[in-house]
Amino acid sequence: MKHFTQFSDIGDFQESLKEMKKIKEDPFAEHARGKHKTLGLFFFNPSLRTRLSTQKAAQNLGLNIIVMNFTHEGWQLETAEGAIMNGDKAEHVKDAVGVLGQYCDIIGLRSFANLKNLTQDYEEETLSQFIKYAGVPILSLESASRHPLQSLADALTISEHSTQPRPKVVLSWAPHPRALPQAVPNSFVEFIKNMEVELIITHPEGYALSEQFTEGVRIEYDQDKALTGADFVYAKNWSSFTQYGQILTQDLSWTISEEKMKLTQNAKFMHCLPVRRNVVVSDAVIDSPQSLVLAQAENRIYAAQWALQTLLGGLSK
Ligand code: CP
Repeated sequence: MKHFTQFSDIGDFQESLKEMKKIKEDPFAEHARGKHKTLGLFFFNPSLRTRLSTQKAAQNLGLNIIVMNFTHEGWQLETAEGAIMNGDKAEHVKDAVGVLGQYCDIIGLRSFANLKNLTQDYEEETLSQFIKYAGVPILSLESASRHPLQSLADALTISEHSTQPRPKVVLSWAPHPRALPQAVPNSFVEFIKNMEVELIITHPEGYALSEQFTEGVRIEYDQDKALTGADFVYAKNWSSFTQYGQILTQDLSWTISEEKMKLTQNAKFMHCLPVRRNVVVSDAVIDSPQSLVLAQAENRIYAAQWALQTLLGGLSK
């Protein structure tokens, strides 16, 4: 694996799940693999889980870690080729990223969608420039259109908690006061449709995700119908893809409540966090024994460790 930015970077998905379980059983087995190597983590957006789980995973591998928040600490970066840089932007991305590549053996990057320009977001301008100019492997810590480390952890969590040979997994849109990117649901669909599950997406009209991700997946506009008999309910808000970045509704009847969960087959509740309690999901559901949110967060460590270990050259046999 040269970079890890999307599902297709994984060679054998089933094998990666097995490898993550092996890492989880003995997280320090490869404690010397990263010796004298440096992981750089670079953020253009806030993070709790991604930053800390990736740092912890890197520590388990003996990597040195450097972290920088570009929003507060870095120079403003110019991205246009041939720009005459007589404005506010002090450094060109090709120079900055070229320098980061001199300091790091692997680079982790978080760069969200701006939700203003669909083409720019889905062409992954910042991520592409890091891949182009760094000269070292790039690990996506969530890009404009995908969050692969989250989805890898979610896949591990579903595989650990499945009690059916082919569980019903429902990805449900939920309300939110702010416009959020589609990265988490896009990746969730990209990964989970490659598992032995019945995957259904439910959302209000106008919230269809890009067909690039949802092709072949059942869409159901009636949330109650979708939830009936579910084994896993994954709640997530996203802004409209077709009316790009817009909030079309904040209908609280889509909140995952105890009543909604009664329609399911005693389903497990999942969310990537951070979550708006009593908007996306009721306290009663997220605090119930059926909630897997902390298990998902824990599995972020092993997903990151699998990715780092693979980027460092694979598991020791
Ligand atoms: N789920 C997730 O990526 O959390 P953070 O934004 O806190 O990293």
